[in-house]
Amino acid sequence: MSFMMKLPAALAASVAAATMMLAGAAAAKDFRLGLITPPNHIWTQAAENFGTDLSDATDGAHSVTVFPAQQLGSEAEMMQQLQTGALDMAFLTVAEVSNRVPDFGAFYAPYMAQDIAHAGRILQSDLALRMLEDLPAKAGVVGIGYGMAGLRQIVSKGEVTSAADLEGKKLRITPFKPILDFYNLLGAAPTPMPLPAVYDALANGQVNAIDMDAELIWKLKYFEQADTVVVSNHMMFPMVGLVSAKVWQGLSEEERATITELMKKRLDECIATYIVKDREWLDQVRGTDTAFIDVGPEFFGDVPAQWDEIWSEQSSVLSEMRDTAAASAE
Ligand code: BEZ
Repeated sequence: MSFMMKLPAALAASVAAATMMLAGAAAAKDFRLGLITPPNHIWTQAAENFGTDLSDATDGAHSVTVFPAQQLGSEAEMMQQLQTGALDMAFLTVAEVSNRVPDFGAFYAPYMAQDIAHAGRILQSDLALRMLEDLPAKAGVVGIGYGMAGLRQIVSKGEVTSAADLEGKKLRITPFKPILDFYNLLGAAPTPMPLPAVYDALANGQVNAIDMDAELIWKLKYFEQADTVVVSNHMMFPMVGLVSAKVWQGLSEEERATITELMKKRLDECIATYIVKDREWLDQVRGTDTAFIDVGPEFFGDVPAQWDEIWSEQSSVLSEMRDTAAASAE
């Protein structure tokens, strides 16, 4: 006869509940996952799909509630919430991570990726995966894997035929230093602004150009507010799937393995989606009345080299990442 069977029913129930609480990790949990992208964005869909997978794999014991469109605050605020354990999970731009762990700034080296598929290979390299190991100690988060958005383009009011046309222009950037340095070197007036504020800012003239990817230029119709799309493909734009290190500590090995496998699967799928769709979205923009010019590194003169000079001081992995990229170029 087991120990529990000897106890009166009410007492047995409370012992069982206490055992569950002590085990902690076995308790059902609805994880909160935050991101800044709108509901129809590929990142948000990846987060929703991960939640469905987790719920299926645990017979509903664990679930995920996704909070898109900055509902839980800016990326900087979500990062703080992850650190305190107030937020369980997030899909954040690597930009936000690089604000805290400057090594990650190396991902934004201009023209490191020759095309979107190459960007995917760089993000799935051993170096990129090894960098995630620094995150618990340096940022209080566990990095599960990378996703990405499309390569970066420039959308501008007015005609743009050379980089000189961008000089002094108030140009919206994602708020982080690697891209700020890039546009300062170019002589533009970079204006840091989170994604949800961009449409109105461009429409009302608060900025007259934006740094953006093809998906959002097309889906959020930024091209309608501009005269020229500069198809430059000048930078990759990685995302990282994160779990609060505090929350992670409370999970069993089995739960960690399940979350890692399922989240990573959806992040990999996100990379695969952009590899197929990035060009399609650009082609759709090309089919509109907005003018576009295709440019390469020469458009930016010696700015990419100057950027590397600055960032080789700030990111200890920049030259290794350039080598990694060169090794996987085609
Ligand atoms: C942006 O800040 O431009 C951005 C953020 C998340 C996904 C795509 C773009």
